Amino acid sequence: MVMKTNLLSFLILFASTISSSLAKGSLQQTLLPSEEFNDCSNASRTRHLLENESQAQISVDLAQGYMSNDDLEWAIKEFGQRCSNISRIYSIGNSVNGFPLLVIEISDKPGEEETKPAFKYIGNVHGDEPVGRELLISLANWLCDNYLKDPLAKFIVENVHLHLLPSMNPDGFSLRKRGNANNIDLNRDFPDQFFSVNDDEDSRQPETRAIMNWLRDIRFTASATLHGGALVANYPWDGSEDKRTKYYGCPDDDAFRFMASIYSHSHYNMSSSKEFLSGITNGAAWYPLYGGMQDWNYIHAGCFELTLEISDNKWPNATELPILWKYNKMSLLNLVASLVKTGVHGRIYSSADGKPLPGSIAVSGINYTVTAGKTLGDYHRFLAPRDKYEVVATMIGYKSKNTTIWLDDGPVTLDFVLDPEVSIKESVLQNVYDCDCNSKSTQEFVQFLWGAHLEVFFILIVILGFLLFLFRRRAKIKVPTSRQLSGSKKTVEV
Ligand SMILES: *[C@@H]1O[C@H](CO)[C@@H](O)[C@H](O)[C@H]1NC(C)=O
Ligand SMILES: *[C@@H]1O[C@H](CO)[C@@H](O)[C@H](O)[C@H]1NC(C)=O
Ligand SMILES: *[C@@H]1O[C@H](CO)[C@@H](O)[C@H](O)[C@H]1NC(C)=O
Ligand SMILES: *[C@@H]1O[C@H](CO)[C@@H](O)[C@H](O)[C@H]1NC(C)=O
Ligand SMILES: *[C@@H]1O[C@H](CO)[C@@H](O)[C@H](O)[C@H]1NC(C)=O
Ligand SMILES: *[C@@H]1O[C@H](CO)[C@@H](O)[C@H](O)[C@H]1NC(C)=O
Ligand SMILES: *[C@@H]1O[C@H](CO)[C@@H](O)[C@H](O)[C@H]1NC(C)=O
Ligand SMILES: [Zn+2]
Repeated sequence: MVMKTNLLSFLILFASTISSSLAKGSLQQTLLPSEEFNDCSNASRTRHLLENESQAQISVDLAQGYMSNDDLEWAIKEFGQRCSNISRIYSIGNSVNGFPLLVIEISDKPGEEETKPAFKYIGNVHGDEPVGRELLISLANWLCDNYLKDPLAKFIVENVHLHLLPSMNPDGFSLRKRGNANNIDLNRDFPDQFFSVNDDEDSRQPETRAIMNWLRDIRFTASATLHGGALVANYPWDGSEDKRTKYYGCPDDDAFRFMASIYSHSHYNMSSSKEFLSGITNGAAWYPLYGGMQDWNYIHAGCFELTLEISDNKWPNATELPILWKYNKMSLLNLVASLVKTGVHGRIYSSADGKPLPGSIAVSGINYTVTAGKTLGDYHRFLAPRDKYEVVATMIGYKSKNTTIWLDDGPVTLDFVLDPEVSIKESVLQNVYDCDCNSKSTQEFVQFLWGAHLEVFFILIVILGFLLFLFRRRAKIKVPTSRQLSGSKKTVEV
């Protein structure tokens, strides 16, 4: 009966290791903000975004009440000390004029590699659009002040690694102009999918390069940049292939429209826009642009990025900052939380040794893949709610596996265990791997094992015992090793 005990302890161990990932599947909170904003004001406004920047002539007075670059650096470092147990401060590089591009990471385990998704907000991409840098500091402070008492703040701190870069363009800010110190528009400086204008690495701006290196370091699932000059949530593609102004959706158009709507509908009045239906727009349908950061994120970094225009006035009087924070607060929070409140999440493992695999995840009908983490094999796939998705996990050297999920209500946690291409004999335990673990609670899962499959194991053990008995008695030949009974590693333990 030693063999039986080993088998049982193995099964219990196995069940308990997967129970931790099952627990994640129960995260469900409503997406809409608790505060309802309703406003029917209809003030006419102009779109400043397309106007020439040079004529802006922003008066020095306007900087009154805004943080200078030194103030911002101080605010970030002060935050890092005040909220040291949920944050980490780091730099991703320097601007042309040598200002550090400082990032605040907010998480209950900042800097640690975990199976949680990462989200980033970037402010002040354009030097003369400073509202974002102020709001991101407000966001950090609000999270720090509330994560012990507010459920949404707690949820974000515990489930997401949130990275905030308040200013991508500190030089442009101090010069009160759109471009950086070399007068380059940073949101036109990324490699483009249609035109090769920015493909020369050497001519790329240091701020752009810093972002690109940052995304090689950290696997962000989603992000948003904060701009001013309009009130709308803009999603890919930003550029159309033929340079025409027209709706030009990317493969994840549904997911992006859903994501942009979360922002606009959580906002004070973005969704009541007269110009943009629901307060959202496809980039190319508004005006095509090339070399933008948003499209590059989606194509090259696996990151779903929005471009958020958060105030009609690019550089409003600083006295308006508190109200702008109030208007955008729930949007900023709900967008981050949506990362874990929707979509499919999980890990990919090898059936050969149980180790995590850096495989990739695709969804049938959507020409796009997201990759799993190198060390933990975790993946996070943003998807709009819909009844059915077929999710496919692949990894070089392994057989692909797919399964169908229903995403109508909350997120789904789905782990894959892939078999090596080199065919191994089907082991009895294969059934355990194939179970659709997501749809079962741990209890049910254990019952499932006890009820159905233990009998099979017992029969095998009995047969094994009988064979042993026969061999010993009749032929006095050596006892067969268990390896001969099955090629799988797991069965060796039986
Ligand atoms: C809204 O704007 C339209 C067109 O500019 C105008 O005709 C209408 O009277 C406005 N409504 C309100 C409530 O101001
Ligand atoms: C915008 O600025 C550029 C260069 O400074 C100039 O060539 C162009 O005519 C300007 N456009 C408008 C609409 O003022
Ligand atoms: C900003 O608003 C305040 C209060 O309304 C006012 O005193 C100040 O002059 C304004 N500043 C500018 C630059 O318009
Ligand atoms: C952070 O510190 C506070 C107070 O010292 C403590 O109550 C809280 O549990 C800590 N949070 C984390 C995530 O460590
Ligand atoms: C939203 O509200 C602000 C402040 O009242 C106003 O200036 C703006 O025009 C409004 N925008 C829309 C789209 O309703
Ligand atoms: C899928 O997208 C890739 C670019 O990521 C493109 O080269 C390929 O043609 C697309 N396939 C289909 C079937 O659209
Ligand atoms: C999903 O799996 C089934 C059965 O293994 C297979 O027939 C089908 O082709 C797979 N679909 C995809 C998209 O890989
Ligand atoms: Zn901008």
